[in-house]
Amino acid sequence: MTVTIPRITLNNGVTIPQLGLGVFQTPDGEATASAVDAALEAGYRHIDTAMIYGNEDSVGEGIRRSSVPRREVFLTTKLWNADIRAHRTREAFLASLDRLGTDYVDLYLIHWPVDGWQQAWEEMVRLYEEHSVRAVGVSNFKRHHLEELMALGSTAPAVDQVESSPSFSNRRLIDHVRSLGIVAEAWSPLGGTGGMLLSDPRLAAIARAHGVSPAQVVIRWHLQHGVVVIPKSVHADRIRQNIDVFGFELSDGEMAAIDAMDTGVRTGADPDHVDF
Ligand SMILES: NC(=O)c1ccc[n+]([C@@H]2O[C@H](COP(=O)([O-])OP(=O)(O)OC[C@H]3O[C@@H](n4cnc5c(N)ncnc54)[C@H](OP(=O)(O)O)[C@@H]3O)[C@@H](O)[C@H]2O)c1
Repeated sequence: MTVTIPRITLNNGVTIPQLGLGVFQTPDGEATASAVDAALEAGYRHIDTAMIYGNEDSVGEGIRRSSVPRREVFLTTKLWNADIRAHRTREAFLASLDRLGTDYVDLYLIHWPVDGWQQAWEEMVRLYEEHSVRAVGVSNFKRHHLEELMALGSTAPAVDQVESSPSFSNRRLIDHVRSLGIVAEAWSPLGGTGGMLLSDPRLAAIARAHGVSPAQVVIRWHLQHGVVVIPKSVHADRIRQNIDVFGFELSDGEMAAIDAMDTGVRTGADPDHVDF
């Protein structure tokens, strides 16, 4: 059975599948190629990588290996901090394209708001105007970064990809992002590699009530909040499980109970203090 994933329309009319596969910490080579292939065969049409993940080559290989044509895949990659600081946006983008083995990406993101991001944005907008990128966006932008970006009077970002999970919901930022007509994407949606979120008994109880796993409950919670979610797994069975989330619905009470798990504590870096 192939799952059809809902799509959200970005502010430039391009649509993005609301659920995709993340490949951070998925080793380059066979692990990434087979995860991407398994995801596409299971019905995923959205892959989220980045230059710094070191696996763009294998993401391209996985797409080519699958039976899904490139044009049906929504492919995201990201401009790394060193390239932003060195004003190497175009060169970095062309190198990503080369590694991915494609002539366009669907979404190109500024990975973190490090020094020089304003100039990087102008160059990314040029890539968009040249049709090398179907949409441009940002990642790890807080409200004040978005305000500065909007004040440039340039193209508005289509997406802001930020940390969000039940233990760090980032709800105020996400609500603000969405109020600007920008699509919010959740990174480390399951609490990240090595996290303890999925063993929380509160999630286990809700999962039992629906006959699903805690990961499926968390993915469903993101979807019902209108957020794009990109869980990572290297296991084909989990990759399939993570999109099998359209046969149940969380009640308002269950959504509120998961909302109440927010600790306000990030697992990742604070975007105002990026030292990498
Ligand atoms: N923009 C940014 O700065 C940024 C930062 C971090 C992440 N990201 C993006 O967001 C994506 C997701 O975040 P993430 O990779 O940090 O973490 P995540 O998706 O929250 O969690 C991944 C962890 O959950 C496990 N897992 C996945 N499905 C599971 C299931 N059904 N049951 C039990 N465990 C399961 C994975 O293990 P196995 O692999 O062993 O199954 C892995 O340990 C990344 O891959 C990347 O694309 C972006």
